[in-house]
Amino acid sequence: MLGQVADADAVITVLRTRVDAELLDAAPGLRLVANCAVGYDNVDVDAATARGIAVTNTPGVLTDATADFAFALLMAAARRVVEGDALVRGGGWQGWEIDQLLGAPIAGATLGIVGMGRIGQAVARRAAGFSMNVLYSSPRDVEAAPPGARRVELSELLGQSNFVSLHCPLVPKTRHIIDAGALASMKPGAILINTARGLCVDERALVAALRSGHLGGAALDVFEREPDVERGLQECSRVVLAPHAGSATTTTRARMVEICLEAVRDVAAGRRPATLVNPSVAPALRGAAPKEGTP
Ligand code: GLV
Repeated sequence: MLGQVADADAVITVLRTRVDAELLDAAPGLRLVANCAVGYDNVDVDAATARGIAVTNTPGVLTDATADFAFALLMAAARRVVEGDALVRGGGWQGWEIDQLLGAPIAGATLGIVGMGRIGQAVARRAAGFSMNVLYSSPRDVEAAPPGARRVELSELLGQSNFVSLHCPLVPKTRHIIDAGALASMKPGAILINTARGLCVDERALVAALRSGHLGGAALDVFEREPDVERGLQECSRVVLAPHAGSATTTTRARMVEICLEAVRDVAAGRRPATLVNPSVAPALRGAAPKEGTP
């Protein structure tokens, strides 16, 4: 990318693009980084702000798609859908047995949601439809949290939940928020679901917790070093693995791209983009005259 951005007024990036000071310095005319994701931990926002460059993301349009996927993973892990598929597909199925692929009950179980933003709330609404009890941890009470969802300390959430699902952004405080200690305090047999960011979980510690039998399973859409996956996770049959596909529906991905293009049009016209994440650059944007020939 370094070679491609020299003349760019705007770049549309995806979450595997690391937007750091080096990249920003390679694009002296840059006015916008439109990140095609809701999370923007791949962008050094401070470095962009220091250079007067706007950063935007794509919130809202992927909430339901990601919540659906988190719930799909929860159910797949609880009811061992992928193991069942492998059994039938591999020709090893000998017929119905009373104790075959017994999974974890969902109705009546407790779901602990770490991070009660838009996606966490959407997951909580789904959980209510499945007769689950919902606990959540968040830096503050969330008024929009569905009725019945109770805010607790992370330690209580981990100790009480049959399922723990991560919906927090990746920031210094949430890096390895699920580490060896957090895993040890989870209920025996509990299942961890991660559709947030891989670095929220210490994967090695997770493998150890799965190998020891303390955790009942995990369902992961994100990994610490994507696209590499800790080998121990691949070897564990009680883990469901997905290729960072939470927002992957045709309509959602199209709307994410449209939001990025809208941000490009806005900045080119000297308007403040609707999804600006560094508002302190807004006055400079308004002042910027549209450049001739800007698409
Ligand atoms: C996907 O992970 C996103 O942040 O949009």
